[in-house]
Amino acid sequence: MLTLDDVPVPEYERVVRVNDDEVGLDGYIAIHSLTRGPSLGGLRIRAYRSPEEALADVLRLSEAMTYKSAAAGLPFGGGKAVIIGEPSEIKTPPVLEQFGRAVDALEGAYITAEDVGTLVSDLVVVANGTKWVAGLPASHGGSGDPSPATAKGVFAAMRSVGKRLWGTDDLTGRKILVQGLGKVGSEMLELLTKAGATVLVADVDTKRIETAIDRYPEVEVIPSETCLQATVDIVSPCALGGILATGTVEDMHCSAVVGSANNQLNSPDAADIMKSRNIVYAPDFIVNAGGIINIASEYGYTPEDVDAALEAIGDTVSSVLDAADRRQTTTHEAAMLIARERLEGAD
Ligand code: NAI
Repeated sequence: MLTLDDVPVPEYERVVRVNDDEVGLDGYIAIHSLTRGPSLGGLRIRAYRSPEEALADVLRLSEAMTYKSAAAGLPFGGGKAVIIGEPSEIKTPPVLEQFGRAVDALEGAYITAEDVGTLVSDLVVVANGTKWVAGLPASHGGSGDPSPATAKGVFAAMRSVGKRLWGTDDLTGRKILVQGLGKVGSEMLELLTKAGATVLVADVDTKRIETAIDRYPEVEVIPSETCLQATVDIVSPCALGGILATGTVEDMHCSAVVGSANNQLNSPDAADIMKSRNIVYAPDFIVNAGGIINIASEYGYTPEDVDAALEAIGDTVSSVLDAADRRQTTTHEAAMLIARERLEGAD
């Protein structure tokens, strides 16, 4: 039987433990904030070592969603869900459907979506249990793959950083490294090539590299192990999180870091080091908001609204850089400040 047990957590709207032993479902849904609207955030499926670890993760991730949506000016609050288990073993239709019913029991206060460990095809199964699912494929009435929108947002952020650094948002002739040629990185390659940038690419997957060379023979390929040390104007991390460790940023030779990867900072110290080395770090959760902006099209945003919000990522980056200068803080701290202000300024 499906049960939802409230877990009292100060400062959170609602946190529930979601359980159904019969099907093997165990996890949490955390609603951090409803200030700007219903809470939105993906479902993460992971082999957590304990329920405590899963709870800590869902709390951290749902809070981060509050600030991401607030900074992007979206009408969403912050939420997230986790299911405990190895994705390849736990993702059975009964587990996903029961999870959907748990989401449904929250009556729209939490809208679920894709995250690490889930695929869009899993969301289709979750949707058998609830209508509160965002980011379904277009064939199922959803907004489909958000990656092109994410890339547009990253590109807007890059132009804004370019304007700050070089007095122009024209990226012609700039050397830009794209780390990771997946869904976002391959779109970045296209946008940057069209913009006249000199693009360097790195990926651990040789097939992705081959595809890139087929399309853009002029692209320069560099080894993935050392790519972050390349001498370029901008490094664009579009692969993994946690890549900006202190040792790494001490040995970077770029003017800026602007990419889609989530949670790029390995530690807050890395942001301090980039500041002291005059490397402009455009905070990831501002830069990669295009994915969630794309989802807003399922909740009343017209295509024009979506485009405007993607372009506005550039303006937000600019405000973040101004605030960091003014307050002599890291850009990450400045971004958090702006997100909190936008949260408090919500109607
Ligand atoms: P993806 O899985 O399609 O692509 C990731 C690429 O990175 C793959 O080609 C993979 O081979 C490559 N890669 C993995 N390790 C690498 C390494 N050490 N060095 C170089 N390349 C490596 O993922 P996607 O969707 O393109 O997302 C990229 C990043 O952006 C992720 O961190 C994701 O969480 C984040 N993001 C993506 C959004 C989207 O709309 N797809 C939205 C917001 C954030």
